Amino acid sequence: MGKVIAVANQKGGVGKTTTAINLSSAIALEGRSVLLIDMDPQGNATSGLGIDQGSLKNTTYSCLVKTSTVQESSMETSVSGLSILPANADLAGAEVELVNLERRENHLKTVIGEAREKYDFVFLDCPPALGILTINALTAADSVLIPVQCEYYAMEGLSRLIRSIELVRQSFNSHLNLEGIVLTMFDSRNTLSRQVADQIRSHFADKVYQAVVPRNVSLAEAPSYGRPGILYNTASAGSQSYVSLAKEFISHGEKSPR
Ligand SMILES: Nc1ncnc2c1ncn2[C@@H]1O[C@H](COP(=O)(O)OP(=O)(O)OP(=O)(O)O)[C@@H](O)[C@H]1O
Ligand SMILES: [Mg+2]
Repeated sequence: MGKVIAVANQKGGVGKTTTAINLSSAIALEGRSVLLIDMDPQGNATSGLGIDQGSLKNTTYSCLVKTSTVQESSMETSVSGLSILPANADLAGAEVELVNLERRENHLKTVIGEAREKYDFVFLDCPPALGILTINALTAADSVLIPVQCEYYAMEGLSRLIRSIELVRQSFNSHLNLEGIVLTMFDSRNTLSRQVADQIRSHFADKVYQAVVPRNVSLAEAPSYGRPGILYNTASAGSQSYVSLAKEFISHGEKSPR
């Protein structure tokens, strides 16, 4: 059964989607079968993989409200071995509709169910909030991978997220592990960037990946071409960092308990 990993941080613009797209692509290119589920009404993972949000009938939303299944709604991508369950603005409706349902935190877990059998890894690209969609993702997940941008207040946001993960663990999902923390948009010439990275490493020790994602223009450009950065410009430092992260992830991730 595939391992489910939520890519989460309630802070906006820290590199969740860039990490979800490039890490799942790099893992697929290592020969694993991967499903990326877009859990964000912004649909950035969907458009970043070249899928037109406007033309979609079956999405994460239709799966959550059970008018389609994950199996019939998932689409192949241009990356061999990587499928996506796409999302668009419809998903904002789920925020409202799930709130009044019983066991509202459990819907994603139920709908992923059988689909998990088909994949080695299922990544969940979470929105920048700790609302019902992220809670569903954390309830469905075996582990959570946290991208952190090395800037002021990063540590405060991270502490808040860790407390929320602890609450989900106590209330809904006692199996939830911290998969790892990945430092993103790192600028080695910037003193603050280095200080924040040191602070996070001294606090979270071996939970922080050795691979660090640098600030890199190719990673930022790639979504407008509908391609993962690692294929748009394979040789770039950003791409290489995600390839290293994927290797590290596979060597840790396949070992850690479910
Ligand atoms: N390593 C990087 N170098 C340069 N730009 C980056 C890098 N990572 C992400 N970006 C850019 O920064 C912006 C935010 O990144 P991204 O969308 O991955 O963050 P996010 O956490 O998913 O945002 P949101 O919270 O809105 O979902 C995007 O424009 C993206 O292209
Ligand atoms: Mg995002």
